[in-house]
Amino acid sequence: MDISYTTVANTNYNSLIASQLKVDEISAEEPNMSLSNLIEYDKAGCLELLEKTDTAELWDVFLEVQAKLFFDSEVQWIANADWWQSSKRILEVGCGNGAYLAKLADRFQGKKFLGIEKLPLSVAQAQERNSRDNVIFREGDAEVFDPQLIESADIILFRLVLQHLNDPMIALKEAARYLSSNGYVLIIDACDKARKTSHPITAIDEALVLAAESQLKKGNGNRRITLDLLQTLEEEKSPLSDLYGVVFSNLGLEGNILCEVARTQGARARELYFNYGLLFLTLVHRTYQVPVNLDKAYDELQSYREDEGACSSMGMHLLVLKKKNNTI
Ligand SMILES: C[S@@+](CC[C@H](N)C(=O)[O-])C[C@H]1O[C@@H](n2cnc3c(N)ncnc32)[C@H](O)[C@@H]1O
Repeated sequence: MDISYTTVANTNYNSLIASQLKVDEISAEEPNMSLSNLIEYDKAGCLELLEKTDTAELWDVFLEVQAKLFFDSEVQWIANADWWQSSKRILEVGCGNGAYLAKLADRFQGKKFLGIEKLPLSVAQAQERNSRDNVIFREGDAEVFDPQLIESADIILFRLVLQHLNDPMIALKEAARYLSSNGYVLIIDACDKARKTSHPITAIDEALVLAAESQLKKGNGNRRITLDLLQTLEEEKSPLSDLYGVVFSNLGLEGNILCEVARTQGARARELYFNYGLLFLTLVHRTYQVPVNLDKAYDELQSYREDEGACSSMGMHLLVLKKKNNTI
């Protein structure tokens, strides 16, 4: 069955993030540029701007900044892989405002991309801003089976989304049905244990510990999901290892770095990281209701930004799974 890129699936909008967005009040047009340029404000102005900005707007700018910061180093790892080169149809599940998928579509024009996303506002932003001849966006829920997607993709990308799901196993089971035979799942997600920076940004480290605890306590996600998946896939008999085999992991079972996939350095990356860090912490605070120290973060990120030698390994886990034949 060929992919149908034009239909709209029914979805349940029940996530924590969804509850914070006011769809009617936000336009799908360009994100607030001052938020992408926080460095132009002094500390007080910067923190005030972050505080008064609506959560939906913060997410929108954050996803743009994050895509810019991580894209080149991540793509280096996938562009030369056989499984990437031989695949034509890529489905991204949880594509947000489409900033990352549009970059992939621009870079790989011979492939077709479909992004599905649960939040209608993000879908509208993606359609408005990031549609291309070879990429389209529509609503869809990772945890709700969509028969229109059966065998529709050669690769399914979950980027920074499995950690937010109520039940990632459901999403991975559905993904196996959406994949062509011998298709691949490409998981790119954050692994806190693998983060390393030349200048410790303790405000982020502390917030990540609290966010992970809050997620586990409230059952709204899991920041160590990819390591848990890797562990499960190691077990000879598990529902997941019946569906997939591991083709590549840049991290070991304990989060030890086997090879680094997202490393940032250079003046532009330092500026982006400054912005990224402040937006990220503000969103962590609002999403998980944990305290964050933005004042300290500003100082730490500022000294990072000012040091020409500063660099970071962003702790991204790139995990590639191959669907096993005759499993569905
Ligand atoms: C951190 S963002 C990542 C966006 C994009 N993948 C990227 O890498 O820039 C996570 C996205 O997953 C979406 N999401 C969360 N739960 C979802 C679900 N059950 N189905 C589809 N999307 C979901 C969120 O609304 C959000 O847009």
